[in-house]
Amino acid sequence: MSESEFSSVDGYLESLFIPDDPVLAATLASTAEAGMPEIQVSPIYGRTLQVLARLVGARRILEIGVLAGYSTTWLARVLPDDGELVGLEYSPVHASVARANLARAGLDDKVRIIVGPAAETLPELEGPFDLVFIDADKGNYPVYLEESIRLTRPGGLILGDNVIRRGRVVDPVRDDDVAMDLFNRLLASDERLDATILQTVGTKHHDGLAIAVRR
Ligand code: SAH
Ligand code: DHB
Ligand code: MG
Repeated sequence: MSESEFSSVDGYLESLFIPDDPVLAATLASTAEAGMPEIQVSPIYGRTLQVLARLVGARRILEIGVLAGYSTTWLARVLPDDGELVGLEYSPVHASVARANLARAGLDDKVRIIVGPAAETLPELEGPFDLVFIDADKGNYPVYLEESIRLTRPGGLILGDNVIRRGRVVDPVRDDDVAMDLFNRLLASDERLDATILQTVGTKHHDGLAIAVRR
């Protein structure tokens, strides 16, 4: 199958599972308008994150890499009234666009964005979190994994985006791909986790979603 066939199946899935959503559409538009990279998760992937958050009854979520708050919105929408999502974002510009989008989504009372390099802001955080979504700079994924294990409650979920990288992790050459291969190996062998990886296709290129349950 070709990329265009995968995209058309994503269109089919969106027609089934993703209602028209002016709030999410505005968030996507803001990403382009602000000249930010359009590397947010796809709609059906956002829905998948949301279903996984529901599955663990998430009350406290940590997201590493917020961009314009697109995946953040999917996740924060299923938090209970007293729930919280903490987002870590390196770029002050991305953080301010995300804050405006989350306010428009009516989620500003539930989402707190901390600006700075996540490797420095993570050690300041206290758990427990029910779900961590890792989606920032790929070279630091091994560091983010160790901090995520520390911060996640037993039975909680650690998710990692982009862990297949068009298949490049199979024979990694670039530094980021070598780091992602290391992340996958750590995920597979860590005694504190029960983990797997799903390959993903669709409107985004061939990639993968890591799913780990904290023991
Ligand atoms: N989760 C978002 C997409 C995140 S894109 C979504 O699906 O909607 C990756 C984000 O990670 C970018 O906004 C980038 O600025 C941020 N980032 C890059 N390096 C980082 C770092 N060292 N610490 C925290 N965030 C970082
Ligand atoms: C790309 C996609 C992502 O989901 C991400 O987090 C970073 C980069 C990309 O397609 O380049
Ligand atoms: Mg990503």
